[in-house]
Amino acid sequence: MRAAEPFRIKMVEPIRLISREEREKALENAGYNPFSLRAEDVYIDLLTDSGTGAMSDYQWAGIMMGDESYAGSRNYYNLAQSVKDIIGYNYTIPTHQGRGAEQVLFPLLIKKGQYILGNMHFDTTKAHIELAGGRAVNFVIEKAFDTTTPFDFKGNFDIEKMEAFIKEKGVENIGFILMTITCNSAGGQPVSMANLREVSAVGKKYGIRVFIDAARFAENAYFIKQREKGYENTTIVDIIKEQFSYAEGFTMSAKKDALVNIGGILGIKDDEELFAKARSMTVPMEGFPTYGGLAGRDMEALARGLREGADEDYLRYRIEQVAYLGRRLMEGGVPIQTPTGGHAVFVDAKKMLPHIPGDQFPAQSLANELYLEAGVRAVEIGSFLLGRDPETGLQCESPMELLRLTIPRRTYTNSHMDVVADALIAIKDRANALKGYEFTYEPAILRHFTARLKPIE
Ligand code: F0G
Repeated sequence: MRAAEPFRIKMVEPIRLISREEREKALENAGYNPFSLRAEDVYIDLLTDSGTGAMSDYQWAGIMMGDESYAGSRNYYNLAQSVKDIIGYNYTIPTHQGRGAEQVLFPLLIKKGQYILGNMHFDTTKAHIELAGGRAVNFVIEKAFDTTTPFDFKGNFDIEKMEAFIKEKGVENIGFILMTITCNSAGGQPVSMANLREVSAVGKKYGIRVFIDAARFAENAYFIKQREKGYENTTIVDIIKEQFSYAEGFTMSAKKDALVNIGGILGIKDDEELFAKARSMTVPMEGFPTYGGLAGRDMEALARGLREGADEDYLRYRIEQVAYLGRRLMEGGVPIQTPTGGHAVFVDAKKMLPHIPGDQFPAQSLANELYLEAGVRAVEIGSFLLGRDPETGLQCESPMELLRLTIPRRTYTNSHMDVVADALIAIKDRANALKGYEFTYEPAILRHFTARLKPIE
């Protein structure tokens, strides 16, 4: 039987499609950068799945049960219990969001100049590695970059390549290994249990510590259950626990799979000394360790969200909605990263707009056209995001030019997905008329968020 949403809707938030003329004006005012649009001018917002999901009635009820004590809030203990039950770790530090956990943990692990090995580091993660004096290196498998050939675990590490790198640079020059599940930047692609196990074995062999960037840990577990032999009959929670057993700690943006609008967690399995150090760092960076940058009520919503996010019926609905949008696009001839991942559909703009070179930002051009066509906001993941080489000042060459259609959790229906698919299919038929973009204002750092552009005539 086909599964529909495992929830019904008891509160709605009106959204509105403004006129084509108003959209043209809004986009021009935003400097042809959807980040600068007012959210009210957006009809369907697929900018990110981060903090944009809908909480359940049970989570909202938890909000009313906030214990706002400065120290020792009961909601902190509920949160630590959820972490223990779902993830199996002993030590929990709440943080304001994922990057809060990164800024506490990374300086404790990195000596200046060390390499931090990952499948593909997320951009704020890379920034925190660099702020702590480290160098972020990616070892995702080559298959991740071939969007047309499906592969079950495109988020996997290339173990051989990583091991060769460790030998070449010397163990003393490696800070730690960070396994990002799912691998956001490669298309929300999962990492297999076998691969997590192998990375952990490499860590053991060389005495290198292994951590997890856990933003989408539950979606990863669901893919393992669906795709990896031997896990068909394992519960999601057991799969989650096994994933985390291959690391000694994690940083988590709880704004994704933990189903809250704000929050993060720094989790440590059993290393008491590391926990003590992290706890001390949390005080000046985030807050007292039993609230770490969150209100008691937000910790309660998170304690409950962690459990709901690991529910198999919910995950089936979640992954199937992403797959539905992917299927509609493929049937309409729009090139996408295949198979679809956990939180988003990634359109291959390099394939769809071959006439626009990377340094004229084809995926940005597609993002702008999609907004004009249907009021849908999506995000460029390509050359515009990647930026310039800090030494030469030249635009870096991006291996992929992707438009990420990021789907908030429990928020939109498949009718919304149809609007998005219809718009992109219509754009495909006139794709060769789309123009590249150039800067009118380019900030020196993190230009993606505030740059202004204009179409190249
Ligand atoms: N790690 C991954 C894999 C992420 O995707 C993100 C955020 C973070 C860390 C940082 O977490 O935002 O809570 O501080 N990703 C969002 C996105 C912003 O749109 O992909 P945060």
